[in-house]
Amino acid sequence: MNSGRVPLVVANWKMNKTPREAAAFLDEFLALRAGLPESVHVAIAPAFPALELVGRHLAPAGFLLAAQDVYTEAKGAFTGEVSAAMLKDCGVSLGLVGHSERRRERGEVEADFSRKMKRLADAGISPVYCVGETLEERDAGETEGVLKRQMAALDLFEADPPAGLVVAYEPVWAIGTGRAATPRTAADAHVAIRALLAARFGDAVAGVVRILYGGSVTSANAAELFREDEIDGALVGGASLQPAEFADVVRAAA
Ligand code: PGA
Repeated sequence: MNSGRVPLVVANWKMNKTPREAAAFLDEFLALRAGLPESVHVAIAPAFPALELVGRHLAPAGFLLAAQDVYTEAKGAFTGEVSAAMLKDCGVSLGLVGHSERRRERGEVEADFSRKMKRLADAGISPVYCVGETLEERDAGETEGVLKRQMAALDLFEADPPAGLVVAYEPVWAIGTGRAATPRTAADAHVAIRALLAARFGDAVAGVVRILYGGSVTSANAAELFREDEIDGALVGGASLQPAEFADVVRAAA
């Protein structure tokens, strides 16, 4: 953690929790709220059907609502899609873009992420842009090249990056595997990402962008990850599904 940047912990629920299950989580999580540090920004990204309900409970508690995805177009005849304006109207302030599950399962590529980030930015929602290499790419020594290619999705933004941009370094081999990156490995990648941001937008802008680590973060490894100066918080999947466990991760970020 770096004292100049406010820590951020984001729960990525993925395709888990019906609205009813989300409400049960919130009952428990909000009861733990008194013990949570005010110095940490906390966000939850539920699936779309639970978005409004979760947002209604989070806002008065001072927590943020995040979306797991957004469509590339602003509005119109796109059956099944959800626009940035709709998310904004539901109270969303952060939007995940580029998650490896969408890269892999849905074939989305950098050009899609550029447009999604632009839609979010235009609606006043901060993108949380996810990047990270596969195990094969790491083993082949390609990590930095992969990060460079993925970060080029920000080239669409000429002068400044989207307001409130967050980057999440999520090595694919660490997601849902129980095998988190070591603090050292994560910090090295974060340094590379910040250097890419600095080359694109300048040191001052790069210095305020929060870079989260994601991939098998739990209450057992969060504190040692957060000890790294370059790790500004976490994007938490599996461990965010249990209120007490997620609260422990948030506490570790203080
Ligand atoms: P995980 O998922 O914490 O379950 O590894 C993280 C993510 O995919 O954002």
